[in-house]
Amino acid sequence: MKILLSFFKLFSPETSHFLALHSLKILHKTRLLNIFFSKFEDKDFQFLGLTFKNRLGTAAGLDKNGDYIDCLGDLGFGFLEVGTVTPLPQPGNPKPRVFRLSNENAVINRLGFNNKGVDHLVNNLKNRKYKGIVGVNIGANKSSKGQQRINDYITCFSKVAEFADYITINISSPNTPGLRNLHSDENIKNLIDAIEQCAIALNFVRPIFIKISPDESTETIKSISEHILISKLTGLLVSNTTIKKDMLENSKFKDLDGGLSGSPLMEKSTELLNSVNNEYPNLPIIGAGGVMTKEDFNKKIESGASLVQIYTGFIIHGPKIIKDILN
Ligand SMILES: Cc1cc2nc3c(=O)[nH]c(=O)nc-3n(C[C@H](O)[C@H](O)[C@H](O)COP(=O)(O)O)c2cc1C
Repeated sequence: MKILLSFFKLFSPETSHFLALHSLKILHKTRLLNIFFSKFEDKDFQFLGLTFKNRLGTAAGLDKNGDYIDCLGDLGFGFLEVGTVTPLPQPGNPKPRVFRLSNENAVINRLGFNNKGVDHLVNNLKNRKYKGIVGVNIGANKSSKGQQRINDYITCFSKVAEFADYITINISSPNTPGLRNLHSDENIKNLIDAIEQCAIALNFVRPIFIKISPDESTETIKSISEHILISKLTGLLVSNTTIKKDMLENSKFKDLDGGLSGSPLMEKSTELLNSVNNEYPNLPIIGAGGVMTKEDFNKKIESGASLVQIYTGFIIHGPKIIKDILN
């Protein structure tokens, strides 16, 4: 496995991501996946009326289009989150746009919601064989501004609702200009109201999370939490990547534009998770950011996360990390 991971790293991060997921898909289709990655005993976890095979899932971005649901599901994750998906397909930002920070166990990305559009994802959701929980992370197209941006979330919500076990509203990608403005008091209230109306109209009673940025002020996060608590939405996903690079003090990457994930994000995202949980103990939280080890996973749970997601740790260490964390 180590040899294979080293081989993939000979390519650019985006190419190696594609090659690795495609290899997993082939192994899955030829039924060889379980020979390479042995199964372990799951501990079912009940949360918000859903049964998760365990508490470790994939974070959004790993499988933006739902092209790898069955093979990722077979690796032993307790749940998957696919997306971010937008109403229309879009190419994302110019390449290079993903950077591997090997010494820091981190990644900087400025992909900008490259995806094949919501209809492609819905088709994959409809045809999945994986029986576990699949959440869908939704966003807005780059060209959409103002009310159109809110309409984009509603379009995606309406299309995925029937096929999603839960939905995450992503307002925190740093790579779509102005998206993080949705954290402001007035904007988040409008967005939550619109989502709530849509959920009621569709009779959608499964969980809805808002995925937040770790770079906002405590006041802003408090106000979002309070809006959620008085709405039909469920909770927070803490957090997306950070645009702050102060933890990369001595690194040549410290001035690179984009969102930082992996080890340097662990402390910041977990502190935010902990503070939200202390202030609002009844608010359900999914934790993400910097999980590389079982200790990191446990830290997220101790800090108030009911579920934990992983992205960068998985691409650095490969599928073995799932077993290392859960055993
Ligand atoms: C290459 C890359 C692409 C990502 N794309 C998305 C995305 O489309 N939507 C989203 O909500 N988060 C996205 N994220 C953020 C992750 O879902 C996660 O919140 C973040 O990376 C922190 O977790 P980690 O440290 O385990 O990677 C992306 C992260 C990376 C590294």
